Amino acid sequence: MVSASAPAKAILIGEHAVVYGRPAIAIPLPDIRAEVGITAGDLGSGIRIFAPDLDRVILVGATADDDPLAVTVANTLAYLGIAQPPDLALTLRSAIPLARGMGSGAAIATAIVRAIAAYFERAIAPDEVSALVYRTEVLFHGTPSGIDNTVVAYGRPIYFTRGAGPQPLHIGGPLRFLIADTGVASPTRLAVGDVRAGWQAEPAHYEALFDAIAASVDSARAAIAAGNAAALGQAMDAAHTCLMEIGVSSPELDSLVAAARQAGALGAKLSGGGRGGIALALVDPAQADGVAQALRLAGAVNVLGATLRPDE
Ligand code: MEV
Repeated sequence: MVSASAPAKAILIGEHAVVYGRPAIAIPLPDIRAEVGITAGDLGSGIRIFAPDLDRVILVGATADDDPLAVTVANTLAYLGIAQPPDLALTLRSAIPLARGMGSGAAIATAIVRAIAAYFERAIAPDEVSALVYRTEVLFHGTPSGIDNTVVAYGRPIYFTRGAGPQPLHIGGPLRFLIADTGVASPTRLAVGDVRAGWQAEPAHYEALFDAIAASVDSARAAIAAGNAAALGQAMDAAHTCLMEIGVSSPELDSLVAAARQAGALGAKLSGGGRGGIALALVDPAQADGVAQALRLAGAVNVLGATLRPDE
């Protein structure tokens, strides 16, 4: 049995605008992971993907219009030059909630690519993993920016601009976040598609909002480098206001954001595709318990912590 895993992710700031060429910042969530194990399959079974949590078994290559995870397996084998693969059984397990903007699809695909490379004893670099998983993201999301596959494959905080690849994020001091789950599943594809329709109808308005988000991302980058939590919180608040105007927030997200701020968070915003999924709050560690409690009272079904630690 060979296995590999990959982390969840959160977009700290810049979602949606990143699809339109603006920068964004994303962080891995290393404690929340997807894992794939591979064993030899039964003779003549072909390649099967077992997803016990979803109660699904997917046969790779069964139809022309294949499942995105089956396509990931096929693409990875082709990339590694394994023309006649043996019978294989892949088993997926994931602790990442689905359709919450936490990168569950990218993490599962990344774990698949890494597990196949490990099974065939082939080294594969993060940029190669990221490029393969991007092809899966296109199937899941339609027009992804590439930020999710990049942050998950590199497993480190990144400043990302489409086409330019990841830049490392300099972290000047520890930053503590709370991730509050609305409990509302919201496929990224739908939110991204609606933003595109809005942008096509009112291009100047949307471009101005994307520019405002880009300005907040660059303020956030400077604040993170300086370890200035108050300035980062302001940038997050400003980005949430833009995301509301873009139309990707929701009553559930807005009440979590308001509750976090009222309980003393330094800043709060939706994170990821929006419409549901998660909100991200920046907190002073001394306030973390109080803010977490306020988030639960405001309807969060789960509240997780994440810390950005300074560069070594
Ligand atoms: C999804 O994690 C982030 C979005 O900006 C979509 C994308 O960048 O592909 C909403």
